Amino acid sequence: MSDSKIPGLDAIAPGLEASLRRRLHDMEARLERALACDLSLLLDASVYLFQAGGKRIRPSLVFLAGHLGNPAEEALTEGAAAIELTHLASLYHDDVIDGARLRRGVPAAHEKWGVKTAILTGDFLFARATGLVAALGREASDLIARTVSQLCEGQIREVTSWGDATISEAAYFEIVRRKTASLFGASCRMGGLLSGASRQDQEHLEAYGLALGVAFQLSDDLLDIQGNGTWLGKNSGVDLAGGWYTLPVIHALAHGKWKGELSALLASGPPQGESLRRAREIVGAEESLLGTQSRVRAAVAEAKERAARLSRRQIAPVFAFLADLVAGRCKAAAP
Ligand code: IPE
Ligand code: IPE
Ligand code: MG
Ligand code: MG
Repeated sequence: MSDSKIPGLDAIAPGLEASLRRRLHDMEARLERALACDLSLLLDASVYLFQAGGKRIRPSLVFLAGHLGNPAEEALTEGAAAIELTHLASLYHDDVIDGARLRRGVPAAHEKWGVKTAILTGDFLFARATGLVAALGREASDLIARTVSQLCEGQIREVTSWGDATISEAAYFEIVRRKTASLFGASCRMGGLLSGASRQDQEHLEAYGLALGVAFQLSDDLLDIQGNGTWLGKNSGVDLAGGWYTLPVIHALAHGKWKGELSALLASGPPQGESLRRAREIVGAEESLLGTQSRVRAAVAEAKERAARLSRRQIAPVFAFLADLVAGRCKAAAP
């Protein structure tokens, strides 16, 4: 279903790409089984985004983190499926919250099925993730419960700062750590936990995932501005128009050469028409993006520093390589 490759992975760890593909394939079969239900509308709506595509980054992290213990451990398949289900559930709800129209290259679930069905399907996916992880023991269940709470807290924090052009960089990072990085951290910890990795490796894995997740969300926010929507499978340029002021906007408002003008453009709510065009021009200017790119590099450096502390030397470069890929996708790789 998902045949996307991680370019360059085989050069670092020969054979890993193929084994990861096999594990992801098993994860997808397990995930589909977990969605079984008698009501065809709920079944159709719940497999909808899963079948539409997606990069499968989080379940890949579960399997890669499994290399800190026994990578052949069968429970990793269920753990990875529970993580991807949790992510999927959050996408159904996020698109309602953000009024997004496109997801994974197809109309967002609420566009196709309506808001009520999209919300209930998100709940259903969360419930099925919980069911899967319950069989994996108390610690795995606690991890998912803690992560979903964090995710909700991050989303609520973001919702309550909607349209606020005075949002601080610190408040933005508090949102990002919860709404996105928490699930990246949980994915890595889940892999360590289920494969029997040491406690210390589990700590490093989670810290690695958190830093990677921050870098990932920042890169996603940059890509929204850099305009790679088609490739991302969602519309780009929507954050600013929607009143979601991400780090490039915060930086442009705090330090940019046109900060006074931008502040005036945002003073009476999210910009439209000519104001939106000009605000996009200001935020999209190279100098507005530099600060965010440097924060991406800092998060990537932190992730690599954690990866270097992992006990199995052979797998650490793979984690470092993934962090570099995140920097590369938003052109924030170190010069
Ligand atoms: C989208 O995540 C949500 C964010 C954290 C930006 P992904 O970009 O991993 O989405 P899929 O799974 O590939 O669709
Ligand atoms: C990412 O939210 C986090 C979650 C989906 C919970 P965003 O709203 O920033 O991500 P996209 O741009 O919709 O993928
Ligand atoms: Mg969104
Ligand atoms: Mg959102």
